[in-house]
Amino acid sequence: MSDPQSVTVTDTTGDDLAQSTSDASLRRTEARSAEIEAQIAKDPSGFRVMTGDRPTGNLHLGHYFGSLANRVRIQDAGVETYILIADYQVITDRDGTGPIHERVLGMLADYLAIGLDPARTTIYAHSAVPALNQLLLPFLSLVTDAELRRNPTVKAELDATGDRPMSGLLLTYPVHQAADILFCKANLVPVGKDQLPHLEQTRVVARRFDERYGRVDPARPVFPQAEALLSKASTVLGLDGTKMSKTKGNVIEIGMDADTTAKLIRKAVTDSDRHITYDPANRPEVSNLLMLASLCTGRDPVEIADAIGDGGGGGLKKLVTEAVNEFFAPIRARRVELAADPGHLLDVLRRGNAHANEVGDATLAEVRAAMNMVY
Ligand code: TRP
Repeated sequence: MSDPQSVTVTDTTGDDLAQSTSDASLRRTEARSAEIEAQIAKDPSGFRVMTGDRPTGNLHLGHYFGSLANRVRIQDAGVETYILIADYQVITDRDGTGPIHERVLGMLADYLAIGLDPARTTIYAHSAVPALNQLLLPFLSLVTDAELRRNPTVKAELDATGDRPMSGLLLTYPVHQAADILFCKANLVPVGKDQLPHLEQTRVVARRFDERYGRVDPARPVFPQAEALLSKASTVLGLDGTKMSKTKGNVIEIGMDADTTAKLIRKAVTDSDRHITYDPANRPEVSNLLMLASLCTGRDPVEIADAIGDGGGGGLKKLVTEAVNEFFAPIRARRVELAADPGHLLDVLRRGNAHANEVGDATLAEVRAAMNMVY
């Protein structure tokens, strides 16, 4: 092994970071995701999955079909899974923590209701895992402020906050995310496209750590190179045909009741053509509702459209309402039970936190050893 002190850190990565959401890079990641899926089906034991959400509101159907269902599938395929409730990320771009306690427990109730199983999946919160957060310190020594300012996701999140100045936490949040991923040495991160720059940053941090601080076991770096797993899942849009997002008021939450769901779908945007067809390019709102019905029933959206025929927006909405309410009925029933027992939810979270702490402490011990800081 070469003397780590003598290795200079090569900065060839600025371009990779800026390019991580380009079309070519996206296609490569998609192709690689398909290969990884095939490997998981053959042997799930080579993977450790880590992902998470920031608890800023209740999870909705866009989350469910876009990523949550995929996590349950991966867990059920036998992959060891870590799921972070990213409570510290909440304060990257707002004052105060808001109703954080309710939101964290609400998110946990959503997770458990959809089938994430705490016996197989570790669910924990940022703020409860000191070792994870301490990794941020050595990791910050490995990045420059220029590359953080170039990160497209940081830029987008800054723009979304209007006139707010960039906080130190928002600027460094990709490095915090590297700590989220690397504290448990995850090698696979199911995310949406918008998070790809953070994964590139995570790989850069892992590589530079190896170059600059070296190894404990000469045969392998302290940290793996984590890969993205882009889900094949379809994007479900909001009830107005634009991205489903709480701030736009176009969401159906996983935990909403059947009546609220019916009311919201009744107000959904359609168009004036009474003959229902599946045509995403020309009829985005109608097609999105058909896709939602398709995801809930397992039927083809074209076949659903044919069955509705000249039934118009009214016929379409009736069918979608039934499909959504039927599909989510058992999940919602479980969620009601879970939400009624916050003591149980806290207990589950504490057990997840305890396990995350064991794993994080072991990683931090290795980091200190690599850095020659064991006293
Ligand atoms: N940044 C992610 C989001 O805004 C949430 C998140 C935090 C995350 N840490 C993570 C996702 C680690 C994947 C891996 O949605």
